[in-house]
Amino acid sequence: MRYFLLLISIATFTLTGCAGKADNTESNQAVLDKYFKGNINLTSLDNYTSQTKPNYITKDNAPGALSNEIATLGRVLFYDKALSKDNSISCASCHKQSFAFGDTATPSRGVNGLTGRQSMRLVNARFSQEVKFFWDERATSLENQTTQPIKDHAEMGFSGSNGDPNFADLLIKLNATEYYPILANRAFGTNTLDETKIQNALSQFIRSIQSFDSKYDIGRAQVNNDNQNFPNFTAQENLGKNLFLDRPVLDANSVRTSGGLGCQGCHRAPEFDIDPATRSNGIGGSIAGGPDFTNTRAPSLRNIALPNGNIATPLMHTGVIKSLQAAIGHYGNLTAAAQNNTNLDPRLKPNNIGQQLNLNATEVQAVEAFLKTLTGQAVYTDKRWSNPF
Ligand code: HEC
Ligand code: HEC
Repeated sequence: MRYFLLLISIATFTLTGCAGKADNTESNQAVLDKYFKGNINLTSLDNYTSQTKPNYITKDNAPGALSNEIATLGRVLFYDKALSKDNSISCASCHKQSFAFGDTATPSRGVNGLTGRQSMRLVNARFSQEVKFFWDERATSLENQTTQPIKDHAEMGFSGSNGDPNFADLLIKLNATEYYPILANRAFGTNTLDETKIQNALSQFIRSIQSFDSKYDIGRAQVNNDNQNFPNFTAQENLGKNLFLDRPVLDANSVRTSGGLGCQGCHRAPEFDIDPATRSNGIGGSIAGGPDFTNTRAPSLRNIALPNGNIATPLMHTGVIKSLQAAIGHYGNLTAAAQNNTNLDPRLKPNNIGQQLNLNATEVQAVEAFLKTLTGQAVYTDKRWSNPF
């Protein structure tokens, strides 16, 4: 009899103990399934935290570890058109997974018109020494960057000016949805989103987008440093690598007599992030017309080509460069740029004369072949970074 009672009480305890929690998760999951068709599973969230990075990758601009709950919220925000004032544009409208999270259009279209610059690829944004973002580095951190497009009149339209609603209106809109209170609670233990939480979530999602399965990575893992020949590279790719890494030897007129092309000075292997001290590379125009010498940042050169060899997006802040050959060729003759571009990087104009690299076709093709080895495969299709809606 005593034994029987004990069994009953254990059974009751187990039932009530589980049922309360299961009910909650189940009903929350049912709400999420209405919007995300099974793409977000509260009992097994996608894994953003335990991704491996190669041991030669050391630069990292993340303030702390990622969390699956916060990155999942960031994924939803990134793909949610509700972040624009007329529900027509999400971050992903201009940052498309299949193009390394950049845009093939120049410029990109927002709710109230066009962007002033080419959209930027977001792959490996985390792995840089530079902590400032945008072509002109006007965002002091990735967190700070993430809500600027939302508040931009042309891009997403919660600017609070020109008849636009403001950011507080967006918070009311998001907090009134069925799904954000559930996702916010999982991420932060509170049902309401504010600007800091949105910044935290979007920046964690972007920092989770990493790509280290390229031909370059396979080779780099087999050697001690970038200067050694990679065993998996063709002779052309190894030549291109050396040209990328080595400094040019220039004469008194800034004409190259020997050495490499000096790309490594600013786009630094193995992250291929931009040196924070970099100034203008000589692309001194703007999409609207007129000069713009303020652009001193480039996204990582990783995944600049797609697996099929085509460039992911038009290149440079103006999108004016449409091929890797043209990008390499741009650095070949900077004499004119040195005369009119007041912010030209001093490394590109020794003796105050813009460099002339004396490029030949073999060299341009070799650097192009090398740049293509920086392309990973999985990032374009990995479900964790895809549209959850
Ligand atoms: C209408 C198109 C458009 C939309 C929408 C948009 N972006 Fe962008 N994004 C751009 C353009 C253009 C740039 C470069 C702007 C500049 O440098 O002046 C950029 C730059 C960035 C950068 C800087 C990358 C770097 O390496 O410096 C990040 C990060 C970014 N966007 C994230 C986002 C997020 C997050 C959202 C959604 C909240 C978003 N973008 C919405 C077009 C867009
Ligand atoms: C002095 C610094 C510096 C050097 C050296 C340099 N770059 Fe750049 N690079 C930049 C900057 C800054 C940008 C962004 C410029 C802009 O859009 O206004 C850039 C942009 C690029 C882009 C376009 C990136 C994109 O996302 O659109 C490519 C490709 C590139 N560089 C390749 C090279 C190659 C190849 C070399 C060597 C021949 C090289 N760079 C040398 C500073 C440099």
